[in-house]
Amino acid sequence: MTIEIKSLSKTFKTHGKEVFALKDINLKIENKDFVCLLGPSGCGKTTLLRLIGGLEKGDNGKILEDEKLITKPSKERGFVFQQYSLFPWLTVLDNVTFGLDLGNDSKEENIRRARTYLKSVGLESSENLYPHELSGGMKQRVAIIRSLVNKPKTLLMDEPFSALDIQNRHKLQEEIVRIWKKTEKTIIFVTHDVDEAVFLADHIVLMGRNPGHIKEVYDSKLSRPRSRNSEEFLAIQSHILEGLES
Ligand SMILES: Nc1ncnc2c1ncn2[C@@H]1O[C@H](COP(=O)(O)OP(=O)(O)O)[C@@H](O)[C@H]1O
Ligand SMILES: [Mg+2]
Repeated sequence: MTIEIKSLSKTFKTHGKEVFALKDINLKIENKDFVCLLGPSGCGKTTLLRLIGGLEKGDNGKILEDEKLITKPSKERGFVFQQYSLFPWLTVLDNVTFGLDLGNDSKEENIRRARTYLKSVGLESSENLYPHELSGGMKQRVAIIRSLVNKPKTLLMDEPFSALDIQNRHKLQEEIVRIWKKTEKTIIFVTHDVDEAVFLADHIVLMGRNPGHIKEVYDSKLSRPRSRNSEEFLAIQSHILEGLES
């Protein structure tokens, strides 16, 4: 889905004080794009993602999804958060199919789809495990699958890999690119990690703070699969770093 953000601003009022979280955000995200929102802590990345998700309302401006105003959460937009958000008392399969009974498909169809997705990330033999029996990487795979089985058009991901060790982070990055290509979702992925943004995104939205704003949108032409050692990769990385620090 095409997502268009127009003159969007957001302030929070806490203890009588106003925090200008986002100021005059304008951004267009095309269908099937892989976009990273990149910037330092406090620049409004999570707030922007929550606004796109319909979890929060802006003060001014608007967000359109295929020309329709976003006013509330929708099954068309799936979330993956940084913290492991699985239910500890449910198995992997039950976590993934939780809430699906409300949809149109039969229970059997839902379970079949869930198993296909679990298999695609190597979790086919883990469906009866509980979250405490899983590694961090496995938990985030389950969280991704849980949002995918709802068949959203857009995935909104908030620093989903930042708690993982570097090997697992790199593995999950490769997997999400593979999933993105195969399922043709629009992905909006929040990160504060330049390397992660350059590895993943076709469009990197550089943000700055006080108040949160967009500094630059960098359209990356880097071919895939991407190699962190390539000259092109390193050149883009240093360009983005400069942009962040300026
Ligand atoms: N619910 C809230 N109440 C008050 N202030 C908030 C709230 N959410 C975010 N903020 C403030 O808005 C700014 C942007 O926060 P956030 O979107 O979490 O940034 P980021 O995800 O880039 O670290 C920060 O100054 C933060 O303190
Ligand atoms: Mg955040």
